[in-house]
Amino acid sequence: MALVGSGSATPNQSLNNDQLGQRVDTNDDWIRTRTGIRSRRVIGPNETLTGLSHSAGLSAMSMAGWEPESVELILLATSTPDDLFGSAPQIQAKLGAFNAASFDLTAACSGFLFALVTAAQFLRNGSMKRALVIGADQLTRWVDWDDRRSCVLFGDGAGAVALEATSSEKDGLLGFKLKSDGSRGDCLNLPQVQDYLPLVPGTSHQRGGFSPIQMNGKEVYKFAVREVPEILEELLQVNEILPENLDWLLLHQANQRILDAVADRFAIPQHKVLSNLAMYGNTSAATIPLMLAEAVNDGRVKSGDLIASSGFGAGLSWGAALMRWQGPI
Ligand code: ACO
Repeated sequence: MALVGSGSATPNQSLNNDQLGQRVDTNDDWIRTRTGIRSRRVIGPNETLTGLSHSAGLSAMSMAGWEPESVELILLATSTPDDLFGSAPQIQAKLGAFNAASFDLTAACSGFLFALVTAAQFLRNGSMKRALVIGADQLTRWVDWDDRRSCVLFGDGAGAVALEATSSEKDGLLGFKLKSDGSRGDCLNLPQVQDYLPLVPGTSHQRGGFSPIQMNGKEVYKFAVREVPEILEELLQVNEILPENLDWLLLHQANQRILDAVADRFAIPQHKVLSNLAMYGNTSAATIPLMLAEAVNDGRVKSGDLIASSGFGAGLSWGAALMRWQGPI
């Protein structure tokens, strides 16, 4: 499996820390020093998550030089689809990728890595040749904008990669590890409302709808700085790769302090740590492909570069992958 294309799309509206201070009791200094975030993007009235996902997917396909009909799989990693039945088929139709099976996959902020690994299985077992993996989220739809402990963190966006089947010697997914622990899931939730209405005498039904994001920031922070280094270390050891041989560390963009703590643990210098959360905040499943697309476009990530990536978030779920960026073949 080779990574041959990347793309991204972000909403037009941007919201900086000072503007957020007009809504909740917060300020730029607090947010910047605790998180590294300066601004985030918010989907507005003329945009949709499906639209952003389509744009990101289109850019990745165009970099790869693919005709839409040649795509056989489209995976949309998201926790916030426009349609709970799945938004991937709408993206497939908009792309004109009529031969692609398409479905959504949910693993919160780890969703992109989980989807990448899932798509790789189809390409490696020979059943498909081309797959588009999109990570996209609109958490601003589900944030409690009056909760300053969580609303300052999140933003919207989409990123995508184009994956092509290759021989095993040229496989760009050198290794991966995925983990889940539902027993610790209560520190970050976007739960259904418990709202039961009478249906007929003796029977009630639950009305659909979600409560805003509930987060215990300290617990999530501790989880990330404990589990991410551990899973990366396991992956590097199994694949006999030393941290100094990595070209890039590409972590889920949740908090600059988490990025710094993980980089320190492996003595990876700052210039090898990819970070754009100052501009976008935490865009959940989108952060990794959004960051990758930016670094490929500005020429930082080059063909043959070795990238260690890790996603982590609600579930709890976390994962890591060692990838070699190929670029258009
Ligand atoms: N502005 C100003 N003050 C604030 C704000 C704010 N936005 N938020 C909290 N405070 C105050 C608190 O009220 C508290 O004040 P007090 O001491 O008077 O009570 C003080 O700042 C410290 O609050 P803490 O919650 O202890 O702050 P902490 O240092 O833990 O930082 C943060 C909070 C940034 C949320 C941190 O815990 C964090 O980054 N956690 C990880 C969160 C995360 O990454 N979540 C997403 C995971 S990915 C996914 O799946 C979606």
